Amino acid sequence: MNLRGCAAQILAKVLADGVSLTAALDAGLPKIKDHQDKAFVQACCYGVIRHYFALEFMLGKLLSRPLKAKDTDIKALLLVGLYQLQHMRVKPHAAVSETVAATSHKPWAKNLVNAVLRQYLRDAEALTAACAEDDQARSNHPAWMIAAFAADWPDHYPRLLSADDHAPPMMLRVNALRGERGAYLDELAAAGIAAQAVDGCATALRLDQALSVEQLPGFADGRVSVQDAAAQLAAELLDVQAGQRVLDVCAAPGGKTAAILEMQPSAEVLAIDIDPARLKRVDDNLTRLGVSATTLAADATRPDSWAGGHLFERILVDAPCSGLGVIRRHPDIKLLRRESDLATLTALQAQILNAVWDLLAPGGILLYATCSVLKRENEAQIEQFLADHPEAAELPIAAHWGLARPHGRQILTGDRQMDGFYYAKLRKSA
Ligand SMILES: C[S@@+](CC[C@H](N)C(=O)[O-])C[C@H]1O[C@@H](n2cnc3c(N)ncnc32)[C@H](O)[C@@H]1O
Repeated sequence: MNLRGCAAQILAKVLADGVSLTAALDAGLPKIKDHQDKAFVQACCYGVIRHYFALEFMLGKLLSRPLKAKDTDIKALLLVGLYQLQHMRVKPHAAVSETVAATSHKPWAKNLVNAVLRQYLRDAEALTAACAEDDQARSNHPAWMIAAFAADWPDHYPRLLSADDHAPPMMLRVNALRGERGAYLDELAAAGIAAQAVDGCATALRLDQALSVEQLPGFADGRVSVQDAAAQLAAELLDVQAGQRVLDVCAAPGGKTAAILEMQPSAEVLAIDIDPARLKRVDDNLTRLGVSATTLAADATRPDSWAGGHLFERILVDAPCSGLGVIRRHPDIKLLRRESDLATLTALQAQILNAVWDLLAPGGILLYATCSVLKRENEAQIEQFLADHPEAAELPIAAHWGLARPHGRQILTGDRQMDGFYYAKLRKSA
């Protein structure tokens, strides 16, 4: 099995068919048996997608004419070759010959791949210099995203772009029902796993190096979960009191539902999501962690069909969003997300907010969250909501993390090593 060829096949699914990298890896990796081979293919795929705009720019300079759409697999293979030569500690001659060997199903491409990669080795310096002159190539983002970040965050956007291109640290949430964070840190240290407590988030730990979950003490017994600290803040902010009824309307795969219950296990939680397959993961997660909620596959924009007249003291709207705050974890967002998606997403966010607001009990709190850094999905969304709902008042979020905004609080990607996230807290008048 040629590993570069495997990586190219996986990448071609993302590039040609618009499949997410996670889904393409889930389909492609099980065919590879050896653990190290799997890790190599995964590293190639993430690397190519993370550096896509620079690699593609260079490839454009190295090819005399673009490849046809039916040869996206060869394009992907060339990108794998360039990625190895630029970013991996693989000997150049081995990288070239193994990549060329992956063309056996299309013999015409053998000379092309060989010539392009050798040309790169000769011209690397000039190509790198040319990249520095091109906005998309230099920042590894599509032009529309660069413009959107620059418009919203003129003082911060270079840091935002650069944060997106680094692999994020692995963070854990310690299940407070099964032990304290300090005790778990001691246990990690005893197992030779270096980690630190994350300041400002009581349940979060940051590992020095990513591991597979099987290597984490007590993972199967529900003592910890993998979750960025920014996402863990939702449970703290929602401030659920004993026995309260909580509605979590975009719940899958259940990271925040579980965090809420670990903090307040006596809460009566209804977790809904429109996607039944993703909702199944909520059930699996809750079972592993030893907490329980009612789960329901339902459309948050149509509560008349599922809410049954019940009111809730707390509501979490972790809205479907562009995901532009989690590009570090899902670099394919840079390729697959379109600017035209934003209008649909912001309309859906507003629809969900308006629909579930009616289910909030007087005096109750609604927490709005996204993993985006765009104002139109965040503070502008809340500004409009407050203008339309005089019975809604914003509660301040006093914190050391993030930026206080005219409405809500924004974490920009990479701040305190966290994902990009937004939170706003609203109370309904009693
Ligand atoms: C940001 S994700 C939620 C992540 C989740 N809260 C967690 O912490 O694990 C957004 C979710 O919204 C769901 N969704 C999208 N449109 C919806 C709708 N109309 N009603 C309910 N859920 C919806 C998606 O299926 C997706 O699972």
